[in-house]
Amino acid sequence: MVAAIAGTHDNLTTGARRVKRSARAPCPMDGTAGLRYQQPRGFHCTKAFQMSGHGPACPMTAHNSGPMTGTAHVPGDKSISHRALILGALSVGETRITGLLEGQDVLDTATAMRAFGADVVQHGPGTWSVHGVGVGGFAEPAQVIDCGNSGTGVRLIMGAMATTPIAATFTGDASLNKRPMGRVTDPLALFGAAAVGRSGGRLPLTLVGAGEPTPVRYRLPMPSAQVKSAVLLAGLNAPGQTVVIEAEATRDHTERMLRGFGAVVHVEDGPEGRVITLTGQPELTGQTVTVPRDPSSAAFPVCAALMVPGSEVFVPGVSQNPTRNGIFLTLQDMGADLVLENPREEGGEPVADLRVRFSALTGIEVPPDRAASMIDEYPILAALAATATGTTVMRGIRELRVKESDRIDAMARGLEACGVTVHETEDSLTVEGRGADGVPGGATVQTHLDHRIAMSFLCLGLAAQQPVTVDDSGPIATSFPIFEALMTGLGARLTR
Ligand code: S3P
Repeated sequence: MVAAIAGTHDNLTTGARRVKRSARAPCPMDGTAGLRYQQPRGFHCTKAFQMSGHGPACPMTAHNSGPMTGTAHVPGDKSISHRALILGALSVGETRITGLLEGQDVLDTATAMRAFGADVVQHGPGTWSVHGVGVGGFAEPAQVIDCGNSGTGVRLIMGAMATTPIAATFTGDASLNKRPMGRVTDPLALFGAAAVGRSGGRLPLTLVGAGEPTPVRYRLPMPSAQVKSAVLLAGLNAPGQTVVIEAEATRDHTERMLRGFGAVVHVEDGPEGRVITLTGQPELTGQTVTVPRDPSSAAFPVCAALMVPGSEVFVPGVSQNPTRNGIFLTLQDMGADLVLENPREEGGEPVADLRVRFSALTGIEVPPDRAASMIDEYPILAALAATATGTTVMRGIRELRVKESDRIDAMARGLEACGVTVHETEDSLTVEGRGADGVPGGATVQTHLDHRIAMSFLCLGLAAQQPVTVDDSGPIATSFPIFEALMTGLGARLTR
């Protein structure tokens, strides 16, 4: 059993039980009509020469709502889902996964693993198997690998193939094709891999794996679990020891799961930070992986409950990995009535049930050294901070500028449009809170193909005086395909 593991998710859609389907024109993002980002079940080949995410935009509006109440079964963790598929593909034998996030980002990784030769099969909702090809066993894909919206997918897959003598060409949607890939191709070049892409190291990009890889010692120039993971995955097929040094601890799923699949990984905290040493050329063996529920997805119903007076929401089985739980500590620092119940360890991963009640929050200065452990939660925190009393200062968040969108800019512009005063610098965002009922709203917000920007403003709209519209809700399907149903089931008023 792999060390990244928690309860089962056979009830992933429970949050949708109380959804009333209103009569409306089908939208390309509608799960019932076929999500723009969704592939048909059993789809078995790489999307050749296409860029994903190019369907029509699907606006969505959030209206001031009554109390949010009930249980929110959020989907499986996205980071662990990607890694389960990739490590399964690099293993010998069968990997059995339950609770896999079936968001488009992860489905694109599943498709990519098939293109590299693994046998990836869906058996039921969230239940998948992977028959891998072993370390160094990747086949050369016949088609372009389209990673859609997913930086994690493309960067980890590039690492996984970089020390095998094959070539692959990667592309993505308009958001992913703007994002920096040099941060991964630079260290992969140290192993002997070669990349040719567009200016600025952007996709589409062709990577040629090293024929005779040499192990690498690499100090991360930025706090990035994707870069760390790309280097570690490349190190799998290099002889000797690959070492990654990170000044700040970033999410550690790759290290935990590599161990679970049979690799030798040593982690030491020293004066330079965390030193991670991987012994190359292990034989990885297929495992059983139960994916815990995603704390980054849990943050949306939790924060919505904190914004809407009278709310009480229960979110069971959420990962509390210390490299991921910064948002919950920050909410408690702001005065949230957020209780972690039944803390337990499931398959090596700390997990707890979250019970949250509406609370009058106070703005705080978020400790910058917490940034890596809540890097994906700053958009929803910024939205929440608008409903707090006082000022919330978020520093040390430069990395937000190279996510699915420039998230500092996207949140700042959207909050301003909603009548909230903000200040931004290159690596900070300050939000002047307007109190629980004080956010005017009444705006349409640009989301720039960014799922977390869309979900953050839809949550804010539940508490704002006037409705808040996002220009495109489609990308939500990349990470949280049941968002609309789950939130509506809790009492959110969302319309298209
Ligand atoms: C992720 C790492 C983070 C995070 C992303 C998922 C991962 O990115 O923002 O959503 O699974 O490794 P960076 O490594 O770029 O910080």
